[in-house]
Amino acid sequence: MSIIEIKGLKKEYPLGSTTVYALRGIDLQVNEGDFMSIIGPSGSGKTTLLNVIGCIDFATEGSVQVGGREITSLKDKEITDIRLNKIGFIFQTFNLIPVLDVIENVEFPLLLMKKQSVSEIRKRAEKLIDEVGLTEYAKHRPAELSGGQRQRVAIARALVTNPDIVLADEPTANLDSVTGAQILELMRVMNQIEKTTFIFSTHDANVLKYANNITKIKDGLIVRE
Ligand SMILES: Nc1ncnc2c1ncn2[C@@H]1O[C@H](COP(=O)(O)OP(=O)(O)OP(=O)(O)O)[C@@H](O)[C@H]1O
Ligand SMILES: [Mg+2]
Repeated sequence: MSIIEIKGLKKEYPLGSTTVYALRGIDLQVNEGDFMSIIGPSGSGKTTLLNVIGCIDFATEGSVQVGGREITSLKDKEITDIRLNKIGFIFQTFNLIPVLDVIENVEFPLLLMKKQSVSEIRKRAEKLIDEVGLTEYAKHRPAELSGGQRQRVAIARALVTNPDIVLADEPTANLDSVTGAQILELMRVMNQIEKTTFIFSTHDANVLKYANNITKIKDGLIVRE
């Protein structure tokens, strides 16, 4: 079953007196449980595409359905709801909160959701921290961790709310190749144990062996071969 259906997606940015055509008519379907890679050169539109799917940025034209809902016509409140409850984000630069330790960083989205008690939240965060192999680092702050460990925290944080989809924009770009491969492997394991759909962008062809579905993008269009 498809969890994301995109048709004729265009995204244009005004830039001074000109227009940047970042996405020029994307058709894409992502199935539930997919581990999909979006690969393309710098400037091809990968971040723009992930940001539109994640309701961080808005389409200029076209249809984007996430979990059967047309996100291009949602109100602000519904968009906030999707971002918090349905989607997890992993970024190239980790984006952890520096003053919080590992467990507090992972608990953070659950505290925002206000759906569980403090002790339930702690239990869920501990489970995810265990799954990403960081139990002994639970009291460390981000500055006291390696890049790979920081990205593990980000993976735990992205999954703690049990989202339907995790979007990862070049999650291995700031890691050496061995650590990058470990992070991809961990994402794949989490894709399987948590049954979460993953979409990650990359311009590194080495990471492609992990994906079960590869979409190539160039100049704002999907390249089919
Ligand atoms: N806010 C913006 N204003 C104007 N142009 C933008 C904006 N954001 C992105 N663009 C342009 O849109 C195009 C696609 O950018 P995008 O960031 O999606 O590419 P990318 O594939 O993620 O590249 P990279 O691999 O370098 O991260 C580029 O030409 C970029 O310059
Ligand atoms: Mg990018």
